[in-house]
Amino acid sequence: MESGRPKDVGILAIDIYFPPSCVQQEALEAHDGASKGKYTIGLGQDCMAFCTEVEDVISMSLTVVTSLLKKYQIDPKQIGRLEVGSETVIDKSKSIKTWIMQIFEEYGNTDVEGVDSTNACYGGTAALFNCVNWVESSSWDGRYGLVVCTDSAVYAEGPARPTGGAAAIAMLIGPNAPFAFESKYRGTHMSHVYDFYKPNLASEYPVVDGKLSQTCYLMALDACYNLYCSKFEKFEGKQFSISDSDYFVFHSPYNKLVQKSFARLYFNDFLRNTSAVEKDAKEKLEPFSNLIGDESYQSRDLEKVSQQVAKTLYDAKVQPSTLLPKQLGNMYTASLYAAFASVIHNKHKTLVGQRIVMFSYGSGLTSTMFSFKLQEGQHPFSLPNIASILNVSEKLERRHVVPPEKFVETLKLMEHRYGAKDFETSRDTSLLTPGTFYLMKVDSMYRRHYARKDA
Ligand code: ACO
Repeated sequence: MESGRPKDVGILAIDIYFPPSCVQQEALEAHDGASKGKYTIGLGQDCMAFCTEVEDVISMSLTVVTSLLKKYQIDPKQIGRLEVGSETVIDKSKSIKTWIMQIFEEYGNTDVEGVDSTNACYGGTAALFNCVNWVESSSWDGRYGLVVCTDSAVYAEGPARPTGGAAAIAMLIGPNAPFAFESKYRGTHMSHVYDFYKPNLASEYPVVDGKLSQTCYLMALDACYNLYCSKFEKFEGKQFSISDSDYFVFHSPYNKLVQKSFARLYFNDFLRNTSAVEKDAKEKLEPFSNLIGDESYQSRDLEKVSQQVAKTLYDAKVQPSTLLPKQLGNMYTASLYAAFASVIHNKHKTLVGQRIVMFSYGSGLTSTMFSFKLQEGQHPFSLPNIASILNVSEKLERRHVVPPEKFVETLKLMEHRYGAKDFETSRDTSLLTPGTFYLMKVDSMYRRHYARKDA
């Protein structure tokens, strides 16, 4: 890198907000008449967060940005770029970013580049890359970048409904970051597919080809991993294997797919003949070495055997990332970064010097594998401080579990509210923590009005 250019650009700080209401997957399973264990063991999910009528992607963004700035004592004038990733469309023209500008305008800062990025669950990664690229570019003015990933994932009644979720994440971007990008090792795979899309603008629900979306995800993972490995090998002069990363963090629609994903990386390492795969695992995988193309994605036996031989490494390298996605569900753009936050929460004491590989997937499809190298970070951006500000355990504990009937009732109400005008919400903030933003009304001109619960 040229001297004078910023070094170790990456994530300096992170905060997460999720709605206080959640439904337990075990209860939902029984309510939906699904077979016992389908959502909990089959999909691997524990709980699902959802927005009630007083919250949405805009209010969650306002809440998380305000919280991050306050907790890290960042002057809003110090933000020079704000990028939002979201696939929850509230307005086809006005970006969510412009809503968040209210926070900066109050401090006289309107000199903030960036708008929203949208492509299914990938928008947050696009937003993150935009901010990192800006800090690394000649147009950087020395200020911080800020990334917001915000989504409310809701599905129509049916098999996809338990794979919803909701959250907003804010990430501060700058040089000398504890999570420094290894920008040279990115592997990207993008393609045209109809696996999950939202063509009906009158509904918040997507159209989903569930099985196709699973296969597309795994094919994209293989493509990105192979590109990532070859870029690593080109720059490092040695073969990359799963042993070279301490953690693997995946976009997490539901935990079972994450288990399958890591097993898939293990199978790739077997095919690439890396040292990460031990002798007895090689013998077990050998019968599958000739499966080509689609066959290898459809083989249930391969899936089972590779998950089994990868299990010990999964527990060490992936399990620490699964806490928030299992508890909150798929948060679309925020899902990958909630998994990343889970690693910080679980492992902040031992992360220095380690590597985290990330896999971002957005249906349609867009996908990238990239990685961070971890450093100590200077106060207030030290790993223990970031973990303490995330405050994951306390945030999870203070959630309010609601029965499935109430969850379904809320979704019904939201179906009517989506795209509607001229209504007031209940303004019931009893479950919200002080400082949380909430929706008060949508007026006759579709203008949305928010307030903040007294901090
Ligand atoms: N006990 C234990 N496991 C069970 C039980 C049970 N009683 N019943 C089913 N299972 C298992 C199944 O065997 C399967 O596991 P496997 O894949 O290891 O075999 C799992 O539970 C799910 O069961 P399926 O019958 O495959 O589920 P279904 O097809 O009804 O729905 C799906 C799953 C397709 C993921 C659906 O929830 C969906 O469409 N979700 C949205 C799309 C999605 O998230 N795609 C992922 C990438 S795209 C994105 O991020 C949006």
